[in-house]
Amino acid sequence: MVVAADRIRSLNKYEKTILLALERGMKRYSWVPLEQLKTATKLSESEISYRLSRLIAWGMVRFNPVPYDGYSLVFGGYDTLALATLTRKGTISALGTQIGEGKESVVYDALGLGPVAIKFHRVGGRSFNSARLNREYMPEEGHCPWLIASKKSAEREYLALTTLHPAVSVPLPIDQNRHTVVMSLISGQNLNRCRLDAPGEVLDEILENVQKAYRAGVIHADLSEYNILMEDGKCVLIDWPQWMETGHQNAQAILERDIDNILTYFQRKYRLSCDREDAIRCVTG
Ligand SMILES: Nc1ncnc2c1ncn2[C@@H]1O[C@H](COP(=O)(O)OP(=O)(O)OP(=O)(O)O)[C@@H](O)[C@H]1O
Ligand SMILES: [Mg+2]
Repeated sequence: MVVAADRIRSLNKYEKTILLALERGMKRYSWVPLEQLKTATKLSESEISYRLSRLIAWGMVRFNPVPYDGYSLVFGGYDTLALATLTRKGTISALGTQIGEGKESVVYDALGLGPVAIKFHRVGGRSFNSARLNREYMPEEGHCPWLIASKKSAEREYLALTTLHPAVSVPLPIDQNRHTVVMSLISGQNLNRCRLDAPGEVLDEILENVQKAYRAGVIHADLSEYNILMEDGKCVLIDWPQWMETGHQNAQAILERDIDNILTYFQRKYRLSCDREDAIRCVTG
């Protein structure tokens, strides 16, 4: 799913220049005209054509001939630019294997100063492939909704992690670039895949963390057994891009939904009953 790390290392400097020019061009065009690329990169047409054909073959760029020859960055190219920046900054030195995939992201392990996790946000990726977006139609603002939405999503997740860490048990935020977030690698299993020895203690610990986040002004808004990792018997709350401020008009309902998800899970799997109103009062009190 993510372009291979050795491909990124072997990227020629012209190819990198073209990817960067495309990234800038996509603020104005959904398909960047060849002429625009020539002006922006100052490369000859034959050099650009050759480099573009390689970038297309590697799944970093797409070509559209109608109504003019235009090129567009795709996730593979955006991943490459982010990884190149993170590597240059020394945040990561090697990309490992895929460790997770959700509706709107892929997660890899990687080597930084220590083992890290890198989450590539993929918002709007599927609809981008649809005919509707391939045609003329684009929203008024921004010619590249998937790129903007994925970047915003990563920035938002990073903001949550920096706000909450270390008061709340979340991964340590390490760096953020474009549509990616680099954080500490949690070695453990998602809660839904665990069989807990002391479920009551874990439930208390989760609610305590929900309370601490609430006190910091943050509601998770997608809390469930899938977004909690268990590391050495301790819970770590992950997956924060959709977090909501406690001052939001729907805050109470969203918080209650988060709490309900967790209580229902423990009730169903461990037959653990916990009074709903008590739990809500404990979190908000
Ligand atoms: N810091 C981390 N350390 C270890 N594994 C992680 C880490 N972050 C994410 N993962 C793994 O990757 C999976 C997907 O990550 P996450 O839940 O953050 O995104 P997502 O589920 O794609 O988001 P969405 O809710 O938009 O589908 C997690 O369920 C988890 O298994
Ligand atoms: Mg998730």
